[in-house]
Amino acid sequence: MNDINRRLFLAGAAILPAACGKLGAIPVAPTAAGPVPVNPLIKQRADAQIFRHDDGYYYMTGSVPEYDRLVLRRSKTIAGLATATEVVLWRHEKSGPMSGFLWAPELHMVDGKWVVYFAAGPSGGGEDVFRIRSYAVVCDGPDPMTGKWSVLGELQTPWDSFNLDSTIFTHKGTRYMVWAQREPGIETNSNLYIAKLESALKLGKATRIAVPTLDWEIRGYKVAEAPAILQRNGRLFMTYSASATDARYCLGLLTADENADLLDAKSWVKSPQPVFVTNTATSVYGTGHNSFTVDEKGRDILVYHGRDYETIQGDPLLNPDRHTRVQRLYYTADGTPDFGVPVGNGPLPERFIAAADPKRLMAHDGTRLVAGNPALPQTQFRQSPGRAGAKSIMLSPILMPDHYLVAAKDGSISLEKDSKSADFALRSQFVRFEEKGRDALRFVAISAPGKAIGTVGDQLRLVPSRDATAYWRAD
Ligand code: AHR
Repeated sequence: MNDINRRLFLAGAAILPAACGKLGAIPVAPTAAGPVPVNPLIKQRADAQIFRHDDGYYYMTGSVPEYDRLVLRRSKTIAGLATATEVVLWRHEKSGPMSGFLWAPELHMVDGKWVVYFAAGPSGGGEDVFRIRSYAVVCDGPDPMTGKWSVLGELQTPWDSFNLDSTIFTHKGTRYMVWAQREPGIETNSNLYIAKLESALKLGKATRIAVPTLDWEIRGYKVAEAPAILQRNGRLFMTYSASATDARYCLGLLTADENADLLDAKSWVKSPQPVFVTNTATSVYGTGHNSFTVDEKGRDILVYHGRDYETIQGDPLLNPDRHTRVQRLYYTADGTPDFGVPVGNGPLPERFIAAADPKRLMAHDGTRLVAGNPALPQTQFRQSPGRAGAKSIMLSPILMPDHYLVAAKDGSISLEKDSKSADFALRSQFVRFEEKGRDALRFVAISAPGKAIGTVGDQLRLVPSRDATAYWRAD
């Protein structure tokens, strides 16, 4: 251990007994209740569906780069899906209409049986491979991971045309299916439709609820596909994916009141702007084909895919690097989902709400650190292991991943790039203390023992470590 590390370690170690002794604080790493997921959660799995079943397990399926098989994972935690065993439920056939691409599977319990819906096309090359239709396979037993799967049949959609990305939800006791399909007479690749699901493959009368017409929906291809439903705060929020599957791929949103007639197209109001798009600051490109779940604490989670890079060689559809990603989903004051931006690679970030003034959060405006309530992405910080002993940590804003919180000798705190200097290595180190039973935490500065991150006015500053403004609530 070289001198600076030894001094840092001693400095870090020196403050621990005092802080622990006085406050009963226990220096622990952050936990959500489950282990903190790390993005990308699952590499090379696109179109991911993750849901928490009432057996307490998370199930995950999605498209594989080869598009030749239907796979399934199961884990007690979201993070555990990353390393969970992946079983193959069914492989495409040797010939015929399901011998080519297999796209975007979804696992659902339908009339007491596990059913996987997916899109499939014939093999043989040429344009015929895009003769994509929706099918289902069914499991012969109660455990989808070990049961035997066989073809149930083709979904009976209104036209014999390109259709894919079907999903099911139940609302007020009625079961609905939403899917994407090309409709004769409408010059788009796909539109969105909703119908009652009368039985596993039988639909009621279909209603067209979205056609891609806005500029951000028709970049490369005119696409509205991959619907996903979130029922919250008296409304139904239906996300869908639009444009070509390269960096222009993005999420749109349709909203309906929970008491509306969901089979009336007028009930579904389209947001004029996309709600989730590529972000160069966090280096996530082509965000789309999402699903929704909840974390181990019951908090809403957005599941989606995205690449780590913008430029793709060849056909984006044949690019394997659409990775499964997850992140917290927050809400605006009126209960509308706030998708923010894709948070980028690494452990999930957190927000830190001032315990003394819950209307204010730890935030930044460029390199200036403030306590306020700006746009969501300015309030999300990623914690990483520190350089002053096992319990030291560093904090970095997701929008400036190469910058870190650094305490100055005058007590000010700002964002600085990692200069690799001994001075930076000292002033960027904090220890996170979870306050037993107070649902609060403090970040004590290793470079200033007895001082912690707090606020003076709307500024973040080092304050005495027991100052009321030194307490934060992670969210
Ligand atoms: O990933 C294969 C297909 O590409 C999905 O079904 C669709 O959502 C996307 O366009």
